[in-house]
Amino acid sequence: MLKNDQLDQWDRETFFHPSTHLAQHARGESPNRVIKTASGVFIEDRDGNKLLDGFAGLYCVNAGYGRQEIAEAIADQARELAYYHSYVGHGTEASITLAKMILDRAPKNMSKVYFGLGGSDANETNVKLIWYYNNILGRPEKKKIISRWRGYHGSGLVTGSLTGLELFHKKFDLPVEQVIHTEAPYYYRRTDLDQSEEQFVAHCAAELEALIEREGADTIAAFIGEPVLGTGGIVPPPAGYWEAIQAVLKKHDILLVADEVVTGFGRLGSMFGSDHYGIEADIITIAKGLTSAYAPLSGSIVSDKVWKVLEQGTDENGPIGHGWTYSAHPIGAAAGVANLKLIDEMNLVSNAGEVGAYLNATMAEALSGHAHVGDVRGEGMLCAVEFVKDKDSRTFFDAADKIGPQISAKLLEQDKVIARAMPQGDILGFAPPFCLTRAEADQVVAATVRAVEAVLG
Ligand SMILES: Cc1ncc(COP(=O)(O)O)c(C=O)c1O
Repeated sequence: MLKNDQLDQWDRETFFHPSTHLAQHARGESPNRVIKTASGVFIEDRDGNKLLDGFAGLYCVNAGYGRQEIAEAIADQARELAYYHSYVGHGTEASITLAKMILDRAPKNMSKVYFGLGGSDANETNVKLIWYYNNILGRPEKKKIISRWRGYHGSGLVTGSLTGLELFHKKFDLPVEQVIHTEAPYYYRRTDLDQSEEQFVAHCAAELEALIEREGADTIAAFIGEPVLGTGGIVPPPAGYWEAIQAVLKKHDILLVADEVVTGFGRLGSMFGSDHYGIEADIITIAKGLTSAYAPLSGSIVSDKVWKVLEQGTDENGPIGHGWTYSAHPIGAAAGVANLKLIDEMNLVSNAGEVGAYLNATMAEALSGHAHVGDVRGEGMLCAVEFVKDKDSRTFFDAADKIGPQISAKLLEQDKVIARAMPQGDILGFAPPFCLTRAEADQVVAATVRAVEAVLG
């Protein structure tokens, strides 16, 4: 609903929104929603509409909205010490404590945490560290990074290249040449419909190996992947996928970056997706759930193996030439400490696992039989419903029909539930805060059924 008032006018005249159809927005053809307040899983706009946020913002408000413990920690930190940098060995109580808390929760081969601000800059850091690593090891040709089609790793120059979604490349002259892509572990969208899951996993591993051999293993530095594909469609990997991929990477001495920006700190019902799937990463990217988005903070968790080479590098070359003014910002760090404490105290990781499984099972039960629902899938507090024109032949709708966006708009309009129309394909995504209750999960499923029926019959 459009409100022709001052704020609306300022918004359209002055505010450059990310991931938005700029022309339509400036012309006033798309709604602008001004969010005022929030609590638990609900957000409220300035018109007093209370919306159930089934996507936790951008799958980041994991602890739920309105947590006073985190707000107080931020306020206390701002009063005591709003800022100091972390260059040349400086730190704050909050940043050092948070690094320790992260390492206590991370897989055992991890050694140190470098702090950034968001997922994109953390992955930019990772690529630089990997290039530095191979230069120190005397392998200057070993620099390319393999990512998957439909992976999402940010929208910077290199990270936008790592992201394997068309919209993030088109007209931006991306991907850059050091980034190459391989098959997504997306069983539902396999080309050969006769393939079993096991055959499909073997196919993904073979495709990866063929790419490495084509390019030359001595030119490939690293592979990056999300434990569960997120923005590319919320796709848990088929059984055995990570085992098969890691065998190929080990064989060719290629580093593995687990991008846990979405899965880190509990979204799958395990502290890390790496634990969940037996991934032994060399670097882990974290952001979103680290602070539940109460303040911007990200991190690159670096393994012993990588750290040792970085130390060698600074012995040979002097201090590492990498850092942001806001690395380990005390306010972000204070938010992170309070958030991780709260996640433990409220037992939210196991709630994400339990209520997430309930949400997935209830959604599957309610919608799997629908003529236009091709797939209902998820893991932990991640769930997706994928729509098809014809189920038997797995024919997809024309993108121009905008079935996914229509269903998410209907869901909001009819029942005030937010789900995300994922950017590539007709896929409705859910990633609620971890505090979702079973009753709220029922509410989400009932509303989704009504929206699907309203759009597709
Ligand atoms: C897996 C993953 N990596 C990286 C990013 C980029 O994070 P940011 O938007 O904070 O730069 C995202 C954002 O959604 C993400 O989902």
